[in-house]
Parts: sequence; C-alpha cells; structure tokens
Amino acid sequence: MLLTFYLLFIVLHVSEGCNLVNREQVLDITAHTGGSVLLPCYCTDLQTTPEGFRWNKDNTKIDRREEISSGSGQYRDRVQLFNGHSPGNLSLLISHLTEEDGGIYWCDVRDSFIIIRLTLKGCNLVNREQVLDITAHTGGSVLLPCYCTDLQTTPEGFRWNKDNTKTDRREEISSGSGQYRDRVQLVNGHSPGNLSLLISHLTEEDGGIYWCDVRDSFIIIRLTLKECPKSLPYIPFAVITVIVLHIIVAVVYLITTTKDPARGHYSTADGDGVVSLE
Ligand SMILES: *[C@@H]1O[C@H](CO)[C@@H](O)[C@H](O)[C@H]1NC(C)=O
Ligand SMILES: *[C@@H]1O[C@H](CO)[C@@H](O)[C@H](O)[C@H]1NC(C)=O
Repeated sequence: MLLTFYLLFIVLHVSEGCNLVNREQVLDITAHTGGSVLLPCYCTDLQTTPEGFRWNKDNTKIDRREEISSGSGQYRDRVQLFNGHSPGNLSLLISHLTEEDGGIYWCDVRDSFIIIRLTLKGCNLVNREQVLDITAHTGGSVLLPCYCTDLQTTPEGFRWNKDNTKTDRREEISSGSGQYRDRVQLVNGHSPGNLSLLISHLTEEDGGIYWCDVRDSFIIIRLTLKECPKSLPYIPFAVITVIVLHIIVAVVYLITTTKDPARGHYSTADGDGVVSLE
C-alpha cells in the first residue's frame, strides 16, 4: 500500500515536469536602453523539457498579453532563448533595448508562471531644456557639452542639430559632409551617455544655435565666436618700449657728451671761447 503511494507520488512528480524556480513571484529588473537584459526563468531541474512554455508580455495599449517572438513585431531579431543545451533554462535575452521594452513579462509554463517587471532607464539629459552660452575663438576648437545623468545609458534618437539662419531650418551636423566635414567628433567612446561634440578649426560661420536632441528632450547651446587674439595687443607695447629705449639712449648720450673731458675751456684776449679738441 505504502509502496503504491510512493510510486504514484514519483509518477506524478515526473509528469509534472518543470518546476519553475521563483514560481508565481514577481521579479524586478532594471536595464539600460541600448543594452541587453537576461530575463531569468528556469525549472529546478534544468534537464526537464517544459510543456506549454511561452514568453508573453502585457501590451498595455490594447490591454492584452501577447506572445514574444523573434520572428516578427517589436522583438524581431532581438530576443534569444538558451534552452538548446539545458531545456529547462527558459531565460530570455533581449538586446538593443528601447524604452518600449519596459513592462510586465510572463514566463508561462503550463499552469505556472513567473512575472518579471522590467524597468528601462533611458537618457536623462543633464541641463535638459536649458540654454548654455559658450564662447570660443576662431581657429581653435570647442567642446559642446551634452550628457545623460547616467553615462552608461545609450540614448535613443540622439542627434546634434544646428539652426541654419539662412534657410531657417534645423540641420543635422555631420562629419561626413557640409560645413562640418572632418571637423566634428563625438567623444562617447568610453561612456555611451557622453554625447559631447568637439568642433575644431572653428570659423565665424560656426557661431549660432546648436541642439543636442535626445528623443523628446534637448539642450540648446548658443556658441559665440571671437576673433583669434593673435599677438595684436603686443605690437603697440613693443613700439612704446622701443621709443622709450631710444629716449633713454639719447639722454645717456647727451649726459655723457656734456661731461666729456676732451671738451676744454680757455680764455683769450677777445673773450671766452669754447673749442672742441675732438
Ligand atoms: C540560462 O542560460 C543563460 C544564458 O546562457 C545563463 O546566463 C544562465 O545562467 C542560465 N541559467 C541557469 C539557471 O543555468
Ligand atoms: C565627456 O567627454 C569629454 C571628452 O573626453 C570630457 O572632457 C568630458 O568631461 C566628458 N563629460 C562627462 C560628463 O564625463
């Protein structure tokens, strides 16, 4: 009798298949836009092949739970499963994250599930919606500052634009062509959230209104250009120095010549006379 129960228990347990770790729980995960995230979901026994397994996401717009597919839709070519080696590992890797990827995910296995609440951190511009005034010199270079509070976020829809006052349009700044060809450089190599723009070989035309645009937010930079200060202010100074030196030399010369011992004084019958013995 006891053995029958025991066997029944084993049979039930085996047929149950996947026992989700953290089943019926809600996990909170935060990720950065532009990056990737692994949503963990796995069976206690990684060798079990779960039945009726699906990843779903709540679509808040249409108030429905939709299956996530790599083949089409929002997640096309961005999601990946790892259950090839261990069929019980149902974790989902989502890459090239966008803000729309935030929300409620369901790892559904037959009658059980895990809920993962994914929060996405996007770029929050420092000084957003503000106007910064920067002055630079023609011929030099300038760094237009623009960065996210979190330097590790990769901003979406990021562009540098400039107001073209002639055509009354905002134009994208490109290193490849136009006025800024080979003169602009992004410095975001190490930190994707540093969007600062370096402009070199500045000309007067570079002055104006620049926009660091990130999706729905921006920073405005008003760049003013000044003439390169060359060595102009030093020329009058040099001239004055030369004149003063001349005067000093002249005065010294006069003093030394009047004290010259070669100059003699003598008297004659017809009066005093000065004669130079030089
Ligand atoms: C599931 O697979 C992913 C990707 O290979 C791995 O990072 C993760 O550790 C695995 N989970 C478990 C529980 O083995
Ligand atoms: C962004 O990069 C530039 C150039 O490397 C650097 O001077 C600046 O300090 C950086 N900004 C931040 C906020 O790290």
